[in-house]
Amino acid sequence: MTAILDVDELTVDFVSDDTRTAAVRGVSFRVGAAERVGIVGESGSGKSVTAQALMRLLPPTATVGGRIRFADNDVLDFDTRRLAAWRGAEIAMVFQDPMSALNPLLRIGAQLTEGLRRHRGLSRADARREAVRLLDQVGIADGERRLRDYPHAFSGGMRQRVCIAIAVACTPALIIADEPTTALDVTVQAQVLDLLDDLTESHGTATVLISHDLGVVSSFCDRILIMYAGRVVEAGPTDDIIAAPAHPYTRALLDSIPRLRGPLPRRLPAIPGAPPTGGPGGPGCPFAPRCPRADDTCRSVTPEQRPVTASTVAACHHPLTSSPQFSLGRTDE
Ligand SMILES: Nc1ncnc2c1ncn2[C@@H]1O[C@H](COP(=O)(O)OP(=O)(O)OP(=O)(O)O)[C@@H](O)[C@H]1O
Ligand SMILES: [Mg+2]
Repeated sequence: MTAILDVDELTVDFVSDDTRTAAVRGVSFRVGAAERVGIVGESGSGKSVTAQALMRLLPPTATVGGRIRFADNDVLDFDTRRLAAWRGAEIAMVFQDPMSALNPLLRIGAQLTEGLRRHRGLSRADARREAVRLLDQVGIADGERRLRDYPHAFSGGMRQRVCIAIAVACTPALIIADEPTTALDVTVQAQVLDLLDDLTESHGTATVLISHDLGVVSSFCDRILIMYAGRVVEAGPTDDIIAAPAHPYTRALLDSIPRLRGPLPRRLPAIPGAPPTGGPGGPGCPFAPRCPRADDTCRSVTPEQRPVTASTVAACHHPLTSSPQFSLGRTDE
């Protein structure tokens, strides 16, 4: 399958006068047409920086290395003009906070028709008709009137739907959604994911869904990347990773998803310790200080990614094979 997006050994460093933050350290993955790929990891693991690097949205203080190919073009070589034509038309992003993604001073109609006129060359009247259709598609009724509203007149969930309508307006080949449902309640969350799902079905749109919530990502995505401290520590088809996580960190993330059925633990297992904060990082596995399986090798040699099953890869010296009893936290006290 040809990849829409092919990311190879992506690195991002932020350098200021006295500090250097290695936010992304050698991330590689591919996204095929109509594929839904999830990126999961704790706060600070480099998910948003990866997304911003893909969209070329990082500030000038960031140094980006590696290669990003979109439909066989090198994104890191795009000039300003190519970037402006590419964003919105071929790739679009849905951000975590819909209010900051929308311009509070512009009516929804102006924001929704801008891309339609610029990228699709529609007349003013056609763009407004199309905008009403898009609002209807994302479940916002009475579009003709709502186009004249400003963002503050919409609820949080509706604003996120407007952002999705803007993202899909030009039927891009790929949508990057960075925590698109974090600010929303669970019912609206499900509606937003359904909407993204419909797009994959109707237009073959591929999606990269970023979230700290493995539950959300596993319900939506075909494949998952688990990030920790700027690296991909495990990757593979969702079902295989959920059935048999190989990296102790993935296992810990799975253990900390609340279950609605069966006996409730008195306390959900938490992962002890905190993730590293992005300094240059010494040798050894970044998860070693929090990992009960860590030994001297883990503390001194950085694990390379390697296959653990026919379909999954993990960067771990001691991957879990099949030890369902293994748990990082205690659930029985
Ligand atoms: N503009 C920036 N300048 C300097 N450092 C940055 C910048 N943006 C992000 N970082 C650092 O890069 C690292 C990764 O940040 P990132 O925003 O990608 O995390 P995240 O996985 O998206 O977390 P969250 O779940 O909280 O959104 C963090 O250490 C962060 O402080
Ligand atoms: Mg983020």
